Amino acid sequence: MAAELVLRTEKLAKRYGRIQAVDGVSLEVQRGDIFGFLGPNGAGKTTTIRMIVGLIRPTAGRVELLGRPMPAARRTALARVGAIVETPAFYGFLSGRANLELFAAMSGGAPRARVDRVLEVVGLQGRDRDLAGTYSYGMRQRLGIAQALLPDPVLILLDEPSLGLDPRGMKEMRDLILDLNRVHGITVCLSSHLLAEVQQVCNRIAILDHGKLLYQGEVGRLLSRTESFRVRAEPAEQARHAVAGFPDVAGVRGENGVLVVDLPADRVPELNARLVAGGVRVFEISPVQASLEEVFLQLTGPAAADASAHPSSLKTCAS
Ligand SMILES: Nc1ncnc2c1ncn2[C@@H]1O[C@H](COP(=O)(O)OP(=O)(O)O)[C@@H](O)[C@H]1O
Ligand SMILES: [Mg+2]
Repeated sequence: MAAELVLRTEKLAKRYGRIQAVDGVSLEVQRGDIFGFLGPNGAGKTTTIRMIVGLIRPTAGRVELLGRPMPAARRTALARVGAIVETPAFYGFLSGRANLELFAAMSGGAPRARVDRVLEVVGLQGRDRDLAGTYSYGMRQRLGIAQALLPDPVLILLDEPSLGLDPRGMKEMRDLILDLNRVHGITVCLSSHLLAEVQQVCNRIAILDHGKLLYQGEVGRLLSRTESFRVRAEPAEQARHAVAGFPDVAGVRGENGVLVVDLPADRVPELNARLVAGGVRVFEISPVQASLEEVFLQLTGPAAADASAHPSSLKTCAS
């Protein structure tokens, strides 16, 4: 069964004068995803989100939110979509609660119980009567998410939700996002330039650089593209010799007393058998996962221009 798409963009593009801020981006966010737009500063993340929610018009391409074309269906689609684009502004002289009530009143109203509920979800109950001006940065971010939750959305879009947060604030934000997704069933789409953040919370990602989509798909799949294995065996010299002489081994290097072996995964059992038959004691053969950082640098680094000329070496966006 095909997954339900809550957000789809098709060859979305935005040009500012000579700057192609977003260049043919086709995204597919499925219901239930925590979807990450990952990209360095200036990659076009904010511009993409602003086009998605209808704050700016695309130069080309299409957006479908909850199955409806934007911006034509802006009212109906946005009634079930919450968004924070850039740091939300609040009145410092009003309480957190009063800010939410004011915002709710301006956008068609929300029952008092809903305001209570969103304050509770983001963990601001108890502090809701304090002036927003006295809130920490993390609390203001959470108040922003509370605001985005007011319409009881099926999808929320968060532009750099961890920006400016300290490690504890980032952990709280991660937990809140996971909670919104797992407990409250909300599909989350967030942008970030922080690899660790995305790796820890997102199940699917899109990597954006210079307005172009470099990858879209599951985080796990992106990271498991390498076929390298860590081999810990003794005696070490004999193990290295046996591995180096094994057919299909594309490379061997030593790292902290263990061997890192480039080898097709289906050849691992034979390698193991060969080592054991040769009298080598095998303690461990385990896949080496590239970090998202390594993959990201590989995709966006100077060599990426070459790689994109060879589609086989790079999985570009899903068609
Ligand atoms: N209103 C604007 N006018 C001109 N250029 C813009 C405008 N908004 C964004 N840009 C440019 O578009 C590119 C993408 O910006 P942005 O979407 O903010 O990136 P990100 O959010 O990934 O950091 C940048 O080069 C930026 O300078
Ligand atoms: Mg941005």
